[in-house]
Amino acid sequence: MTEPKPTRPAVFIEKIFPVTLLNKQVYYEHGGNPFKGLHRWYSRKPLSFSRASVLGSLLPDTVTMEEFEYLLGLNRRVAGHPDSTTKLYKTPPSPERIKQVHDLCEQTWGTRTPTVLDAFAGGGSIPFEAVRYGLNVLASDLNPVAVVTMKAAMEYPLKFGPDLQHEIDKWVKWVGDEAEKRLAEFFPSQEGETVQNYLWAHTVVCPSCESVVPLSPNWWLYKRPEKQNLHKWCAVKPIPNLAEKRVDFELVKGSKGKGSTIQTGQDAYDPNSTVTLKEGEGKCPNCDELIDEKVIYSQAKSEGFGFQLYAIYIRDKKGDINFRLPLARDLEAFGKASEDLDSLRLDPVFSSSIPSSKVFAGDKTDELLNRGIDYWDKIFNPRQLLTVSTYHFLIQDIKEKIIKNYQSDHASAILIYLAFILDQCIDKNCRLTNYDSSRANVARATAQHAFGFMWNYPEVSGAGRLWKSCAKKVFGNFQSLCSYLGRTSNQLLPSDKTMPGNLVFSCSPASNLFSISDLSVDVVVTDPPYYKTIQYAELSDFFYVWQKGILSDIYPDFFWMELTDKNQEAVTNISRFRNMDGNPEELANRDYEAKMALAFAEYFRVLRDDGVLAVQFNHKETGAWDVLAKSLIDAGFEITASWAVSTENPQNLHQAQKNSVSSTVLLVCRKRDPNAGSAWWDDLRPELANLVEQRAPEFEANDIGGIDLYLSAFGPALNVFSRAWPVLDSSGVEMRPEVAFGEARKAIANYRFRKLLEADTAGFDPLTQWYILAWDAFRAREFPFDEARQLALAVGGFNVSDLAKTHKLIDSASGTCKLLTPQQRLKKRAFSTNPDEFTAIALVDGLHAIIALYLEEQSIDPVRRFLKTTGLLSNDLFMRAWEVALKAIPHIGDERKRMVEEKALADLWLAMDEIQAKVLYVQPELAFEEGQMGLF
Ligand SMILES: C[S@@+](CC[C@H](N)C(=O)[O-])C[C@H]1O[C@@H](n2cnc3c(N)ncnc32)[C@H](O)[C@@H]1O
Repeated sequence: MTEPKPTRPAVFIEKIFPVTLLNKQVYYEHGGNPFKGLHRWYSRKPLSFSRASVLGSLLPDTVTMEEFEYLLGLNRRVAGHPDSTTKLYKTPPSPERIKQVHDLCEQTWGTRTPTVLDAFAGGGSIPFEAVRYGLNVLASDLNPVAVVTMKAAMEYPLKFGPDLQHEIDKWVKWVGDEAEKRLAEFFPSQEGETVQNYLWAHTVVCPSCESVVPLSPNWWLYKRPEKQNLHKWCAVKPIPNLAEKRVDFELVKGSKGKGSTIQTGQDAYDPNSTVTLKEGEGKCPNCDELIDEKVIYSQAKSEGFGFQLYAIYIRDKKGDINFRLPLARDLEAFGKASEDLDSLRLDPVFSSSIPSSKVFAGDKTDELLNRGIDYWDKIFNPRQLLTVSTYHFLIQDIKEKIIKNYQSDHASAILIYLAFILDQCIDKNCRLTNYDSSRANVARATAQHAFGFMWNYPEVSGAGRLWKSCAKKVFGNFQSLCSYLGRTSNQLLPSDKTMPGNLVFSCSPASNLFSISDLSVDVVVTDPPYYKTIQYAELSDFFYVWQKGILSDIYPDFFWMELTDKNQEAVTNISRFRNMDGNPEELANRDYEAKMALAFAEYFRVLRDDGVLAVQFNHKETGAWDVLAKSLIDAGFEITASWAVSTENPQNLHQAQKNSVSSTVLLVCRKRDPNAGSAWWDDLRPELANLVEQRAPEFEANDIGGIDLYLSAFGPALNVFSRAWPVLDSSGVEMRPEVAFGEARKAIANYRFRKLLEADTAGFDPLTQWYILAWDAFRAREFPFDEARQLALAVGGFNVSDLAKTHKLIDSASGTCKLLTPQQRLKKRAFSTNPDEFTAIALVDGLHAIIALYLEEQSIDPVRRFLKTTGLLSNDLFMRAWEVALKAIPHIGDERKRMVEEKALADLWLAMDEIQAKVLYVQPELAFEEGQMGLF
C-alpha cells in the first residue's frame, strides 16, 4: 500500500456542519415520504442528513456556511430570496448548484464526478443523495431485498422517467382484472354494501370444556375519537355457546359512555371487560377457565391455530363505514377458497407460486415459530394465501411476455415494480397485519423491527381491490421519486447517458468489495449495522421468499440462496451461536466485531489515501461511540470530526418535558499517518481539553448548543486521541476512546458553566453545577440516565447514584431520569422550608426551598423571611446560582407549559427590590451538618 500523502484537502465537514438547520430538515422527513414508501427497508437514515454528509465530505473547507446551505438546496440566506420552507428531501438540487458542486469537486479531488461508496447502503439514503448530484456512485448491500429497493428508487426512475408507469399500467391492470375474475366468488357482498375487511381472531380449543375459543386482547371495531358521540363506536361482544362448544358474537354500537364503555340506550358495554386474552393467558367464555400460555403455544405448534371470523367491515351505498356480523354466505365463501387452495397446491405450476421455504430459526423469528408459523406460507389464512399466490402466479404468467416485449433493463424494471406491488399486498394482508380500530385502518405487518403476531387481524376483501390499491401506492411513490431526482422528462434516455456519473449497485458483503480496485474511491459515506439492533436478514425474508419467485432469473446473482444470507450479515445474531461452546451472546458480538473490522479494512483498501470516510450511526445505542471509534482506529483511520443531528421532534424538545437524545451521528475519518507511532495519554490530555474549549465557541456560533455541543466536541477530542496509535497510560496500558469522550465532556461542562456564570466558577458545589448543566445541556426535565451519569462524571465530586438516593434530585426508571420539581423534593424531605431547620447541602437546595415556599404560599413574604433568616440573600454565591439557573432552565413562551422552577425564580427575581427593601441584613451562621459541604 502507498503511504498517505503528507497533505490532504481539508473538507467542509471537518470544519463545521449545519446541525441546527438539519435538526429541522430531518424532522420534516417524519411521516409519509415516497423514498421510504416505495418499499419497506429498516432503519433508513434521513435524506437531508445524508445529503449534508455527502456534500460536506466532498466540498473543501474554504466553502462558507452560507455557500454550503445554498449548495444543499436552501435559499435561507440568499439575498433577495430568503426562504425557510424548503424541504430538502423533496427538493432536487438545481442544475446550477450541481455545476458548482462539480467545479468544487474538480478543484478538491481532481475530478468533476468523484466516486462515493456506501457498502452498507440498505434502502439507499446515501447513494440517493449522491445520485442527485450526478456523482459516481457505488452502492452495495448484502441483502438482495435492499439492493432491488435501491434499483427501483434510483436506477429505473433515472433511466426510464415517470412514463414507465404507463408501460406498467397495462400489466398491473391485467393482473388486477384477471385476479378479480378468478377470485370474485370468494369475496361475496350483500346488496348495498361493499365489504372492506374481514376481521379474524385466532382460535384454540379450551382444554377444560373443549370449546373453540377465539383469542383477542381487544374486541373494538371502531373507536375513532372524533366519532365518540355519534353512536358510531362499535365493538363485538363474545356470547358463550357451550352447547355447540363455540363462542358467538353480538354487535354493539353506540356513543362513548363512562370510561372505556359504549353507551347503547340504558346499557353500557366495556369491550375491555370481555377480552379472551390478557398477558399471554387465554380465558374461555364458555367455562370461565383460564387457558395457560403453554397450552396455547403447544396447540399452535402441534395443529396450528384455527381462525374465527367475528365481524365484517363494510361501506354502505353512501360510502359510510359500517360493521356487521358474518353470515353463512361469508363463511361458505371462505370454505370454498380453502378448498380451492388445497387443489391448487396439487397443481405443479400454481404450487410454484406458493413459497415453500422454512422460517429461519433466528433471533426475531421466535415470535413466528412459537405460534406455529414454521413455513412462510403459514403467515396467511387460506384465503389470504390464495389471493396473494394468485397475484404471484399471474405475474409469473406474464413474465415471459414482458421479457419478450421489452429490452432487458426495461423488462427488469417492470417486473421489479410488479414484485413491489405484490410485497405491499403481503404486508397489508397477512396474519401479522394490524387492524387499527381508532382509524378503521389496516396497518402494514412490517411496521416494526420485529415480527408482531396479531391475535386478531384484518383480511382485505376483494382480490382486485387489494392489488389495485397497492399498485396505486407504489406508483404514487414512483412518480414522486422521479420528480425528487429531477427526472420529469417524458423522453427515454439512451441507457448509457442516463446520468452524468455512473451508478453501480451490487449485492455483496462489505468485507469483500472485490470489484472495487485499491485507492479508487474518493469518499466513503456509510451507515453500518449496529450489533443486534436490527436483524435485517431475518426480517426481510418476509419479502425475499416472494421476490425470489419473480426476480431470481433476472438477478440470479442476488436471489440464488433459499433465504437471505444470515451467515455473512454483520449483526449480532445470537441464534447462530446457540449450539456452540461458549456464551452465545459473546460469540455473536465477537463475530459482529470481526465482520465490522473486515469491512473497515476493506474501506481502507479502496479509499484513496487522502480520501474521506464518514460513518453515520445512531447515538441512542449505548456504547456505540466507543466501540465504533475503536474499530475505526484499529482499521488505520484517525477521526477528525463528529456531528450529531437530532432525530427528535423539535416541538417535543420545546415542550421541555423530554430529551431522548436520539441523534444521528456522523464520525469523520481519514487515513492515519502510518508513521505516527504511539502516544501517552498524559501528554494528550491537556491538548485535548484545550482544543475542545477552543472549538466550542465556533460550534456555538453555528447554532450548536445543548447536548449537541457535547456530541460535537467528541470530534476534536477524538482527533487528538486518534492521530497516533496506540495511546498508552503511564503504565503502558492501551487506552480506549471513551477516555477522550470523558475528557471532552469535562471540558465542555467547564466551558458552559464558566460562560453561564460569566465569572470564575470557584466555590460552586458539584451538585448545583450538575443541576444547572443538566438543564443547560438537555433543556428538558427528562433525559436518558446514561447521559445524566456521564455529566456527573464530567462534573465530578459526587456519586451518580446519590443524585436519586441521597439528594433526591432525580427519579430514574428504565434507562431514563427525570429532574424532580422542588415540591417533589420537599415531599421527599430533601430539604426543609422552615428557615430554622434549613441546612444547606448544596446551593440548589436553597433555590428549591424558595421555589417550593413561593408555590405553596403564593406570596413573597415567606420567601423573604426564609432568605432573611438563612442569610441567603446576602450570599453572593447563592445569588449567582439563582441568576445562572434562570439562564439555564428553558423559558417556554406558553404560560401553561412553563417550568415551575423557571417561573417561580423569575417571579421572585422581578420582586427582588421588594424582597431586599424589607430585609434586615442580620446574617445568622448556617449550621452545617457533619459531612456537608461548606458552601456559603
Ligand atoms: C443501518 S442499515 C443502512 C440503512 C441505510 N443507510 C438506509 O438509509 O436505508 C445497514 C445495512 O447493512 C446491511 N448489512 C448487514 N451486514 C452486511 C454485510 N456484511 N455487508 C454488507 N451489508 C450488510 C444491512 O442489510 C442493512 O441494509
